[in-house]
Amino acid sequence: MQGLFQSLDSYLITHQEFWRFEPFFACRFSNLPWQEQHPQLCLWLTSLTDQQVEQYQTDLPALANAVRSYIPNLPQLLALNHLERVELKGLPLERGIDSGIPGRKLAQIVAMGEVALEQHAGSEWLEWCSGKGFLGRILAHNSQQTVTSFEYQQSLCDSGQQEANKQHLPMRFVQGDALSPSALDVLNSNQHAVALHACGDLHVSLIEKGVERSLPAFTISPCCYHLIQAETYQALSKPAQASQLHLTKSELRIPLQELVTGGERVRRHRMLEMSYRLGFDALLTDCFGFEHYQPIPSIKKSQLAEGFESFCYWAAQLKGIALTPCDFDKFYHLGQQRYWKMERLSLIQQLFRRSLELWLVLDKVLYLQQHGYDVSISEFCAREVTPRNILIKAKKMRP
Ligand SMILES: C[S@@+](CC[C@H](N)C(=O)[O-])C[C@H]1O[C@@H](n2cnc3c(N)ncnc32)[C@H](O)[C@@H]1O
Repeated sequence: MQGLFQSLDSYLITHQEFWRFEPFFACRFSNLPWQEQHPQLCLWLTSLTDQQVEQYQTDLPALANAVRSYIPNLPQLLALNHLERVELKGLPLERGIDSGIPGRKLAQIVAMGEVALEQHAGSEWLEWCSGKGFLGRILAHNSQQTVTSFEYQQSLCDSGQQEANKQHLPMRFVQGDALSPSALDVLNSNQHAVALHACGDLHVSLIEKGVERSLPAFTISPCCYHLIQAETYQALSKPAQASQLHLTKSELRIPLQELVTGGERVRRHRMLEMSYRLGFDALLTDCFGFEHYQPIPSIKKSQLAEGFESFCYWAAQLKGIALTPCDFDKFYHLGQQRYWKMERLSLIQQLFRRSLELWLVLDKVLYLQQHGYDVSISEFCAREVTPRNILIKAKKMRP
């Protein structure tokens, strides 16, 4: 694992020009960021039709193959990203146990539940940031061991507890803040901790607290690496602390910038919203001489249907700018052009997303190893079910 981490670390550092930028801002400039150093790559990117861009967005192998001669050692880097998929036999589900669990979520928890039950160590479970405790339900039912489901939102605790009582499951919901020192009181050394999609600091706090309490096992699927309180990523393991890669919050978002589960409607809304924002930015530069991007708050999706002109008046009012009629079509068109340029630039960054995510996951793996755990990582479901499909399994080697 340490060797893998070091290889990823050095690839990410030597290739940082290809991923350490924000496509949304980079598309506002006339030159592509690699115009001088990699003119052939830029030529290839600009030659793509919008349709080809969309095809490459969903076909990483084809994209990697197309650009391999422009980006040094790309195949070697991508080979490092390979993870085994866990072998699942399928958990038999009792009727009603899946009550209220949405489809994709059910596939995730059944897969994760099966893995956790298989590697179980300890005599209880701790479900960290449990939501309504869907995963805990499966664990309680299949092991008949106590599950402590720890969750911040009281309403989720209440409805989770109600359903658990209805199903006679040995579950106990505890409301609390995973980031507060008192959360440590919920942990004890008999618990196998599970966390499905606990964001940023939340999965880090489980790992730190769990190590402190010597938990016998962890089964964790991390997500939302950017949801942290600090300004930059705070590495846990010694190798990551020694790395020259110091990641900003916006760089921590990079692994999440893919739309595999979004669907056509989400894609269309995003295209419209980004084109409007970029078009309005062009208008502000042209008509009002703004040099820097003016951030505009988020907008209700339904408001997008009112068109670009209406968006401009809305945004101008929020910024206290006295907008008068102008050539809105021209700026909308510019916004669309920039949108497609942004998508072209994102293709290159996309090649590095998984490596960056693995780097972040391996930091946790190495930290757990440092503290006497036997650790492995794998994929617990297909990307189409959730792109956050990396699973960390850890078992304490010495009690
Ligand atoms: C992405 S959801 C995952 C929920 C659940 N594990 C699942 O997969 O269905 C993250 C959960 O963390 C909870 N959460 C957020 N901040 C928290 C905190 N500081 N302490 C405890 N739970 C928190 C949220 O309320 C939410 O239920």
